[in-house]
Amino acid sequence: MKNLNLRYFFFILILSLITFIIDGALAVSSQDKPKNIKWPFDGIFGYFDKRAIQRGFQVYKEVCQTCHSLRYISYRNLEEVGFSPQEVKAIASGYQITDGPNDQGEMFQRPANPTDMFVPPYENEKAARAANNGAYPVDLSLIVNARPNGANYVYSILTGYLSVDDANALPKGFKLSSGMHFNPYFPNKQIAMPPPLSDNLVSYADGTEATIDQMAKDIVTFLQWTAEPEMENRKLMGIKITIYLIIFTIIFYLAKRRIWRKIK
Ligand code: HEC
Repeated sequence: MKNLNLRYFFFILILSLITFIIDGALAVSSQDKPKNIKWPFDGIFGYFDKRAIQRGFQVYKEVCQTCHSLRYISYRNLEEVGFSPQEVKAIASGYQITDGPNDQGEMFQRPANPTDMFVPPYENEKAARAANNGAYPVDLSLIVNARPNGANYVYSILTGYLSVDDANALPKGFKLSSGMHFNPYFPNKQIAMPPPLSDNLVSYADGTEATIDQMAKDIVTFLQWTAEPEMENRKLMGIKITIYLIIFTIIFYLAKRRIWRKIK
């Protein structure tokens, strides 16, 4: 009986080992691990670089917004990253929004207000897919939190395309489906999104050079903020609580020593 148990044990152990190895092999072949960037917003003392967020907003507005929505952010939220109320008003009024119905029961178009959410580029998912070869450009508001290692993942996708998009540049034996682009950081190493960034695609208001790398870092910083605008407060609260606990530990320790002094 004992022997049988042991045999079972080894059988299951070997089975799990095999699954583990196969799983690892599949994971490796399906997509590469993201590049590892040191972000200012990482760690317990992490903070947001507001100028990077503003530049990232410019990249979103001039590039990504053609295809991707940002539904969970309102124009008014931009005031938190340093835009003035007048600037926000001007940004919002550049968008047309469908409102209504009016007294005649009809929908109508009006310029967006600061309190409106970002106007999506497509009416619905079907329209978005129809315009993108059947692929769906997901909403970007929460993408950094929705994917494991999200900031590095988005950065790696944006900077992970081949510099020339031709068959000779592909790894040996790689089969690229039609309408797809090679990108080792996306599942199956191919993505329907055409390379969205190229050097000097935007012209930054603050004079920063718009390299692919710079724009990728800025848009990721912007998207980290849209995913968790309250991050700085959360981290600050954590630091405050830690300091509070340390002070109280010391006070309690001293009090304990004082109380027990005579008894020893
Ligand atoms: C021409 C349209 C277009 C533009 C412009 C564009 N994208 Fe995309 N994007 C897509 C499509 C379509 C997909 C879906 C790809 C797929 O499923 O293969 C996608 C996918 C992505 C993904 C992967 C999402 C996931 O599910 O993991 C990220 C991240 C992304 N885009 C970020 C951006 C950023 C940031 C910009 C601006 C710098 C941008 N995109 C500009 C069309 C676009």
